[in-house]
Amino acid sequence: MARPTIWIPRRLSDATLERAQATYECVINWEDGLSSADDIVAMSAQVDGIIPCHSELFTAEVAARLDPRLKIIANHSVGVDHCDLPALRSRGIAVTNTPDVLSDATAEIAMLLMLGAARRAVEGDRLVRTGAWNFWSPSFMVGKQVTGARLGIIGMGRVGRAFADKARGFGMDIHYYNRTRLNPDQEQGATYCDSIESLLPVADFLSLHCPSTPETEGLMNAQRFDQLPDGAVFVNTARGALVDETAMLGALETGKLSAAGLDCFASEPGGNPEFADRENIFMLPHIGSATRKTRDAMGFRALDNLDAFFRGDVPKDLL
Ligand code: DGY
Repeated sequence: MARPTIWIPRRLSDATLERAQATYECVINWEDGLSSADDIVAMSAQVDGIIPCHSELFTAEVAARLDPRLKIIANHSVGVDHCDLPALRSRGIAVTNTPDVLSDATAEIAMLLMLGAARRAVEGDRLVRTGAWNFWSPSFMVGKQVTGARLGIIGMGRVGRAFADKARGFGMDIHYYNRTRLNPDQEQGATYCDSIESLLPVADFLSLHCPSTPETEGLMNAQRFDQLPDGAVFVNTARGALVDETAMLGALETGKLSAAGLDCFASEPGGNPEFADRENIFMLPHIGSATRKTRDAMGFRALDNLDAFFRGDVPKDLL
């Protein structure tokens, strides 16, 4: 049987590309640029499968125009908010993602953002880097201590739990909201809150780890920021769509939030230009899963799903 043809629209890790080419006829976008809706639609007539990232948008409009040749979208991401799942399913296209393998890398970035925001990393780095550091005092650059503080986690899936594990190492007192309560083994002493409203008042630090769906869009709005303790630190490594960014800026302005650490933005790539001159926002360009080990694991997981599909099995991560 002829080898299936797949399209790889982004520059995946070398090990992933090597394995993909050993198994499939591959069309690889070596330039690594973004593909438009028209590019995606045109390519769908030439391939049996695609390994996209969250940067390739499979909206309902794109799904309706895809060629029937395309059978599977094996995402190289855990988040699938770039895919209109009902629309793709209605076209008979299988969709998979890459859970588990990026939980630790993403939790590490959440930790970095939490510490960097709490201890004023942007401001401190700027002072030293620009030669403007000409003063020291016990009252200089005083931040917020993580050790022993209460951490609120919204979304206690794999990434949320990996982050909670790391935060326990810092002696944090973990509280969480999840649609369903975890079993005691997974909870590991964390306190369950049965609503976001009951979590927020105890979250000296708040970190988002839930998926972006139509139901969670704008989940952190002005009213919810207002329910946090004064001077809380807010961390988002999940998706920008979860946050009303204007409301977040308002909370930073009033001191309701003392700082924020963000790896995700409502508009990507690029982020929010209004954040640029705020030194109490520590920002990274959506690199939660960007380690060599994790990129290989994500690529291999996407290929495992493709392999299963073309063998006639149900892929492990079929959505
Ligand atoms: C994910 O896997 O969802 C990450 O955000 C990278 O795309």
